[in-house]
Parts: sequence; C-alpha cells; structure tokens
Amino acid sequence: MNSPASLAPNLAPVRTILGTWTGQGAGSYPTIDDFSYTEEITFTDVGKPFLHYVQKTRGPAGNPMHTETGFLRIPGDGTAEFVIAQPTGQAELCEGTVHAEAGSVVLEFTASLLNSATAKQVTSTRRRYEFVGDAVTTTFAMAAVGQPMTHHLRSEMRRS
Ligand code: HEM
Repeated sequence: MNSPASLAPNLAPVRTILGTWTGQGAGSYPTIDDFSYTEEITFTDVGKPFLHYVQKTRGPAGNPMHTETGFLRIPGDGTAEFVIAQPTGQAELCEGTVHAEAGSVVLEFTASLLNSATAKQVTSTRRRYEFVGDAVTTTFAMAAVGQPMTHHLRSEMRRS
C-alpha cells in the first residue's frame, strides 16, 4: 500500500520521501581501500504509522554489495527513529530528529549497535539524509574495528 490519502498522520512530515531513489555513492575508511557504488533506497507506506525501508547497492561491475532493511518511525514530536538490520551481523538502533520544511526533509541520527559474535565490531554510527526536491544526499560515519567515529559513505540519488 502506498496511498498518500491513507498515510498515518504522524508520517505527514516525511510524506515526500515515499518511493524509490537511485544514484551513485563512494566510500572510504582508514582500514580499507576506497570504493564506489550505485545505490537504490525505497521508503514504503504499509498502512501503519511507520515506513518500511530497503536499501540495495551494487559495485561498478554490477556485483551486489551492501544491502540493509528496516523501519523509519516518526513519533510526532520532532524526533525520528530508524531501526535497521544489517546482513553483516549488526542491529542498528538510530535515534535523532526530523526537520521538514517546504521542499526539504532532513533526517539526522546517531545509533548504538548490537553486534553478533562473528560480526566486525561496530560501536556507533551517524546517518544524515537530506531530501531537497527530487534529490537526496546521504552520509554515514561509524566508530568500528577500533577506529573513532569516521566517515564511511556518501551518496547522491534522485527520485526514480
Ligand atoms: C567495510 C562497502 C555500509 C560497516 C566495507 C568494505 C566495503 C564496504 C567495500 C571493504 C570490504 C569489505 O570488508 O567488504 C559498504 C557499502 C555500504 C556499506 C557499499 C552501503 C552503501 C556499511 C554499514 C556498516 C558498515 C551500514 C555498519 C553498520 C563496515 C565495516 C567494515 C566495512 C565494519 C570493515 C572495515 C574493516 O574491516 O576494517 N564496507 N559498506 N558498512 N563496512 Fe561497509
């Protein structure tokens, strides 16, 4: 279900992010080589007071890279919560804010993580999504594998 007419009232500030966004990203971290990727994110109204989120990325040769899925919660008091499951063994509980103005929505989060026994250890993350018109810019930083909070990802996508 993706009908704006039925959207839960608390989701009104993020109405404009519904749908699919595609584009390009680049990543780095002190412990790995730089890389680039294509990205697709989708926010779906399922008729409940949260949005379902799916992200998929591919490498330059079309090979599957990272993917993640979760739920965006907008409690209605200016806060935002993003609960995300990582296939790499982390569960990310993001808490932050939503700022919605004419033509733009900015979501900012910090997260604490749970790591499975075999996962690379990620202590905390920061995420920012800036939707302006038909474009979105995302950034992601993490404290992981013994490194302090450091940039990992940046992508620019457009509504598709
Ligand atoms: C390492 C890509 C999102 C945590 C890497 C590497 C690549 C990569 C290519 C190096 C090779 C490898 O270990 O596989 C991506 C892409 C992402 C993404 C394309 C999404 C657009 C994330 C997220 C997290 C994360 C959301 C944490 C929740 C890590 C960690 C490492 C890593 C911990 C290992 C660093 C090390 O071994 O020193 N990522 N990543 N990544 N990534 Fe990401």
